[in-house]
Amino acid sequence: MRVPEEGIAHKSVVYYNREGNQRWTMRPHVIVNVAMSADGKLSTRERRQVKISGVQDFNRVDRLKAGSDAVMVGIGTVLADDPSLTVKAEECRTNRIRRGVDEHPIRIVVDSHARTPPDASILLKGTGKRIIAVAEEADKENVAHLQSLATVIVAGRDRVDLTLLMDELGAMGIQRVMVEGGGTLIAGLIAAGLVDEIYTFIGNLVIGGKDAPTLADGAGFLKESEFCRLTLLETRKIEEGILLHWNVDHQP
Ligand SMILES: NC(=O)c1ccc[n+]([C@@H]2O[C@H](COP(=O)([O-])OP(=O)(O)OC[C@H]3O[C@@H](n4cnc5c(N)ncnc54)[C@H](OP(=O)(O)O)[C@@H]3O)[C@@H](O)[C@H]2O)c1
Repeated sequence: MRVPEEGIAHKSVVYYNREGNQRWTMRPHVIVNVAMSADGKLSTRERRQVKISGVQDFNRVDRLKAGSDAVMVGIGTVLADDPSLTVKAEECRTNRIRRGVDEHPIRIVVDSHARTPPDASILLKGTGKRIIAVAEEADKENVAHLQSLATVIVAGRDRVDLTLLMDELGAMGIQRVMVEGGGTLIAGLIAAGLVDEIYTFIGNLVIGGKDAPTLADGAGFLKESEFCRLTLLETRKIEEGILLHWNVDHQP
């Protein structure tokens, strides 16, 4: 089954505030995309970036990115890989401009302590908006510096509160967020019930290492009732690997 990669509206979420009153919020639709080895690793145990997929999958990811309002990564990925997260295909950039949006999606770093280096590619490469999400306890000097390069959102006291962040992004009109990793951020998003779809490209190599990053690191879940349940939407052979597209089944 093929599932359209564009045009999903953000979701209305009903919740209860501390006083027990019913409230609603608009949160973005969140799509996780990762490439992993046949043994489920995103990179080496030294967190060194590895080429897992080929040109065809690279182009698919580029289109997914181009169809998103924002692309998000954790600070671990920025420090390890220094990605720019720009849209590479000229045709995709032109289509975005025709749709009346910036050439590149908004680039978001989840970075509680404002450690994003001022010369990070995500801040310097390509036009468009950037958002750095920090916690209240982030170093004030670092935050002030980042404010000259990006919009800084403060969400959470000592660590970025991902639910608050998504509410804030929804309020800014961001409807579709693609998450490009890494495993710690994805685990946090899954634990908070914020992920809607997952794409995993599984490549034809074994990286190994019990400490190498996986799709969902963090503490992990212990009870069956806590496991994140998925529905398989699509499988597609791409070059020497396979793409799995999952829907995340949220509890009613
Ligand atoms: N193969 C792929 O598709 C792919 C994609 C991306 C990355 N990677 C690989 O993944 C590795 C990086 O992954 P990583 O797990 O080290 O880093 P990460 O997930 O990119 O970033 C994790 C960091 O995000 C911050 N964070 C802030 N609030 C959080 C929250 N509520 N929940 C979770 N995290 C939060 C934390 O740092 P603070 O406490 O400082 O905020 C945390 O350490 C690299 O080796 C990279 O090459 C692979």
